[in-house]
Amino acid sequence: MIKKCLFPAAGYGTRFLPATKAMPKEMLPVVNKPLIQYGVEEALDAGLTEISIVTGRGKRALEDHFDISYELENQIKGTDKEKYLVGIRKLLDECSFSYTRQTEMKGLGHAILTGRPLIGDEPFAVVLADDLCVNLEGDGVLTQMVKLYKQFRCSIVAIQEVDPAETNKYGVIAGEMIRDDIYRVHSMVEKPKPEDAPSNLAIIGRYILTPDIFDLIEQTEPGKGGEIQITDALMKQAQNGCVMAYKFKGKRFDCGGAEGYIEATNFCFENFYKTGKAY
Ligand code: UTP
Repeated sequence: MIKKCLFPAAGYGTRFLPATKAMPKEMLPVVNKPLIQYGVEEALDAGLTEISIVTGRGKRALEDHFDISYELENQIKGTDKEKYLVGIRKLLDECSFSYTRQTEMKGLGHAILTGRPLIGDEPFAVVLADDLCVNLEGDGVLTQMVKLYKQFRCSIVAIQEVDPAETNKYGVIAGEMIRDDIYRVHSMVEKPKPEDAPSNLAIIGRYILTPDIFDLIEQTEPGKGGEIQITDALMKQAQNGCVMAYKFKGKRFDCGGAEGYIEATNFCFENFYKTGKAY
């Protein structure tokens, strides 16, 4: 079964400058927890315990976050402040963390390919930590996707209906609905103009990928914006085999920009922080 989860986290985070000049976007706190911690918690909930992170220059804080901080822990030992570290300690106890660096930021597809030595020849999940996903009503988004993978045994992308005017921010799919909320993907386009978009079903930052994707990325030429797009590799996978798209249950906040980040902050403050579920 799927055990590995890859976090591409080498991007520049330009939409959040100047905050992201010297600090990784994935370390931006939503209330009291960095974005990446929400993502790793979601992965662990789905049974994915081998966490692989693709980092880049200036991203050392990510590695330090998933490590013991002896001095700090000694300082608060025996006080009621210890409760603040319960969540992160659980992640350290139950997950393993490995890292590799993307030295040139050539796009999400390239970042995923950079993670190949950490993943090997097995299916794996991908989480873009700046998409914060929550489901107060039940399973987290990755858990939902892992369950689907057990049925379909092929790559799965999480999708969401977006405002048709905003298709140019996403990879957009065209497909046939085979069951409630599940589509077999026929084609996909990266960041289409609204008039060229095949639908308003947009891919968000959760994927399950079969390992043949790596060879397909290797064969992929730079696309939109001169970057190697995962969408282009997935398109080939959809044509040669099978890619499913899943309209997940829950909410997704685009924390790569100020608006989604503020919405996420308010949501997490109300639903986790005030209710004592934030640690
Ligand atoms: P984004 O385009 O959302 O991230 O990429 P970005 O480039 O950091 O942000 P902006 O647009 O400049 O504000 C989606 C994900 O892919 C990772 C990013 O870290 C983010 O998690 N990524 C992107 C890489 O790891 N490497 C890349 O070369 C590009």
